Amino acid sequence: MEGVVAKWYAANTGKSLDEFTSLAQRIANRLPPGSAVLDIAPGPGYFAIALAKLGRYSIAGLDISHTFVALANRKAAEAGVHVDFRQGNASCMPFANGTFDFLVCRAAFKNFGQPVCALQEMCRALKPGGRGLIIDLSHDASPELINRHVDSMGLSAVNRLLTKLAFRTVLLKNAYTKEQFQQMLAQAGFRSFNIQEDGIGFEISMTK
Ligand SMILES: C[S@@+](CC[C@H](N)C(=O)[O-])C[C@H]1O[C@@H](n2cnc3c(N)ncnc32)[C@H](O)[C@@H]1O
Repeated sequence: MEGVVAKWYAANTGKSLDEFTSLAQRIANRLPPGSAVLDIAPGPGYFAIALAKLGRYSIAGLDISHTFVALANRKAAEAGVHVDFRQGNASCMPFANGTFDFLVCRAAFKNFGQPVCALQEMCRALKPGGRGLIIDLSHDASPELINRHVDSMGLSAVNRLLTKLAFRTVLLKNAYTKEQFQQMLAQAGFRSFNIQEDGIGFEISMTK
């Protein structure tokens, strides 16, 4: 079952590759060559692969799903780039303190079983002065905005329906409010953080 869902997700999000490329471009613009970057919960790895194409970075990806790790490694090989995709839990990361200059966590934070631990781990794994970016759905996203977002994803009619259903049943329920993010981030140890509302969700920037 997990394999079927992973392939469905990879095929659906693969229709929005432009979104991953423009996010990678935005981040690469502010990232010196040689930077160490971590993609937390990369799923099929589209963001990390897009970033690897843009510059000489040392990029790792950590995902709890063996299926996604295998898929991401295959996609990186097909794209001819190197990303160290490995299996592990965001709440207990297999990286030494102060390893990364930058980390990103997109469309995944709401899935974490121990979200505060995950934030503390992000802070621990960053170098002093290192930065992080979490992009995730808001619990308060309106049905109209969600419908518009899904309609823009380039999906077939059936997948549009299934994706809207997933948002309404599981994803919104798991997603956090701005106040909840503020409370969790306050426990994580970052020097500063900023929560921006953006479409159906948040872009949260953290600095260690
Ligand atoms: C919706 S996908 C997002 C994938 C990717 N970041 C993207 O933007 O398309 C959520 C990912 O979170 C991963 N995940 C869930 N819980 C996790 C955890 N505790 N640690 C690491 N990865 C986790 C899942 O395996 C899945 O790959």
